[in-house]
Amino acid sequence: MSLSFEGRVALVTGSGGGLGREYALAFAERGASVVVNDLGADTKGGGKSSAAADKVVEEIRAKGGKAVANYDSVEDGEKVIQSALDAFGRIDIVVNNAGILRDRSFARTSDLDWDLIHRVHLRGSFSVTRAAWNHMKNQAFGRIIMTTSAAGIYGNFGQANYSAAKLGLLGLANTLAIEGLRYNIRCNTIAPVAGSRLTETVMTPELVASLKPEYIAPMVLWLCHEQCQENGALFEAGAGWIGKLRWERSQGSIVRQKNQPMTPEAVRDQWDKICDFTDATKPKSVQESLLSIVSVLSGLDSGGGVGATPTAAAALASGVNPAEAVGQKLPPSTFTFTPAQCILYALGVGMSTKDPDHLRFLYEGHEDFSCLPTFGVIPSQAAMMDGGLSSIPGLNIDFTQVLHGEQYLELYKPLPTSGTLTSEATVADVLDKGSGAVILLDVKTFSGDQLICFNQFSVFVVGAGGFGGRRTSDNAKAAVPPPKRAPDVVAIDSTTRDQAALYRLSGDWNPLHIDPSFAAMGGFKAPILHGLCSFGFAARHVLKHFAANDPSRFKAIKVRFVKPVMPGQSLQTEMWKEGNRIHLQCKVSTDGHKRANGHFSALLCVQGMSCMRLIGSSLVQVKETDAVVLAGAYVDLHGASEASLGNLTQHGALQSELVFAEIGRRIKDSGSELVRKVNAVFAWEITKDSRSAAEWTMDLKNGSGSLHRGPAGGKADVTITVSDEDFMEVVQGRLNPQKAFFSGKLKVRGNIMLSQKLEVILKDHAKL
Ligand code: NAI
Repeated sequence: MSLSFEGRVALVTGSGGGLGREYALAFAERGASVVVNDLGADTKGGGKSSAAADKVVEEIRAKGGKAVANYDSVEDGEKVIQSALDAFGRIDIVVNNAGILRDRSFARTSDLDWDLIHRVHLRGSFSVTRAAWNHMKNQAFGRIIMTTSAAGIYGNFGQANYSAAKLGLLGLANTLAIEGLRYNIRCNTIAPVAGSRLTETVMTPELVASLKPEYIAPMVLWLCHEQCQENGALFEAGAGWIGKLRWERSQGSIVRQKNQPMTPEAVRDQWDKICDFTDATKPKSVQESLLSIVSVLSGLDSGGGVGATPTAAAALASGVNPAEAVGQKLPPSTFTFTPAQCILYALGVGMSTKDPDHLRFLYEGHEDFSCLPTFGVIPSQAAMMDGGLSSIPGLNIDFTQVLHGEQYLELYKPLPTSGTLTSEATVADVLDKGSGAVILLDVKTFSGDQLICFNQFSVFVVGAGGFGGRRTSDNAKAAVPPPKRAPDVVAIDSTTRDQAALYRLSGDWNPLHIDPSFAAMGGFKAPILHGLCSFGFAARHVLKHFAANDPSRFKAIKVRFVKPVMPGQSLQTEMWKEGNRIHLQCKVSTDGHKRANGHFSALLCVQGMSCMRLIGSSLVQVKETDAVVLAGAYVDLHGASEASLGNLTQHGALQSELVFAEIGRRIKDSGSELVRKVNAVFAWEITKDSRSAAEWTMDLKNGSGSLHRGPAGGKADVTITVSDEDFMEVVQGRLNPQKAFFSGKLKVRGNIMLSQKLEVILKDHAKL
């Protein structure tokens, strides 16, 4: 697929000519709204003219693109960014490209030569980027390019001022890449080589003509695209070639001995070894760099109180010391609950009285009243919620950088529906994943002295890695990828706009899930759904489709949280049965947005077939590109029998169910209008294998309309009887309703004329 910038706003500084102009044209051609900034200065920074920027804007507009000009110097970053906000309301991409040259041999470099170069290149890029930064943070998207030069990377005679400023940009980019990481801001640096007025003086005219700026622009566009996750990297490019650069460090040599003074002679004697790049390493972070240095202390100064083991030395550098942390216990926590908490939790993970099967989890008077198995995470999380981890020695880390990475839950018996449970949490391991640390927290939950369940929380702490620890652990409950075949069952369910607001009442009060400004600080557009809420949705999909909603069949669940879900999005759970293990994966589909726009779209879930979406009158395959939010997940069941899969179509999962669910939502959205237009009560009788399988009552006469599963109780103006299969044929437009009526496939009792009004209910989308 081609890379589009539709909806994005890009600023290219110094784009009145040279490379910048080429970038601006390329962004505009692919749909971006472009701010063409150029002071219109001469190559040495003198003079000022609006002509350069205006000309490029005209060029873009002549081709049908969107652009505005800005004539401020990049030193006035706020003004430059303001013009993007004024014209287009946002800023997504900043390409710091503006530049001048004031070449002089070092001895002749004046203060002005030095300062002007630094003001335009280094200070200008800082000023523009800082003005854009908070906007990018708040929208959780930003792409920034810094432009360095080979002169900075390698040095170049007569360019001391320029080299210094240009390599300063690389340092700036390195840190922005780290600070912007969690806000989805990516910052990279490029060192282009192209013919332009800046290179006219150092290149032959032939070279200037051949090294075209258009050979650089595609790299800039890729680095600025939302698909590109490259961050903190440096690239050289020219003539259509692109290469990546990185730091290399020799093995080096320790030039002092324990309890001896360090001497210049010892340094001289080791110089060859210090400079030998055999087996060089490539450190990528301050932590990695510091680690090896601090480790030297442990070798030389053991017993000196600095750190006797490499792990301790590493801990000094990173704040994480597994040797100290592993095995530590958090203070025990107690959790007292009544049926109200079980019901609240069930509602929080999307259970509804609309599904009669859910009643056993929602009504304390039900003869099989039960607690959902995944409620088992609730008592155990109390210890974590109190910030217990931050008091553990050896975990001296920034707990604002914590992500819930994975979750494992195992039940030893069905959960009670009330009582007092105690939980004991232990740090099972601390792993070093390079970019972060993973803390495995094992929590055992007891009722009295009886072990009820076991949880393992995997907590990822961004930026806390590099302490020299192990990457994997025997104690970890691993995620398992699903089989490679198409899923056996796909279930689709909508979360509501208030799902997180409801779920949090079960005990996770993190404002990230309710407070928009807090969510923005975390780099999210809006408050996100709790990972454990999606986890609850997925688990009950398995329970429904493979264990007939019997909680005693539930043994364990493992999930890996990949991406956040926004409240209101639809969750699509794909399930594969492999013996007693049901593998699963959850995706978010964009169905919610379609409905919000007034589309009628029915989601059909058919066992053994892939998932189809009905939009308008045609059936479209749901795109496989929907984002995976829960991965490597599975549910283990006790004695799951063949019953589940085989009986699915016979006893459960009527295909018509999902269409009715969709109609129900439509009535909710615009019921009053439908009541006005239709003014009738419809009863549906859906048959399966010639037997009545479901009844639905569509009341479009009273109040603001309603749909419920069950008989109409004599209220119906018209009753329609049709088989599940024929209902689907009609809805999909494959069976003409009149023909169905005359062939006896669709029976209508009562006021037949009213059946014409079904078209109003289903609009043109379903050809009823
Ligand atoms: P150019 O001179 O054609 O473009 C630079 C543009 O920046 C000019 O249009 C100029 O008016 C504008 N500008 C200067 N000061 C400004 C300020 N204070 N505010 C706003 N705009 C200002 O040069 P070229 O070659 O296209 O260079 C673009 C960037 O690439 C520069 O940063 C340069 O240092 C860098 N670069 C270029 C190389 C090449 O081979 N062309 C090599 C290495 C780096």
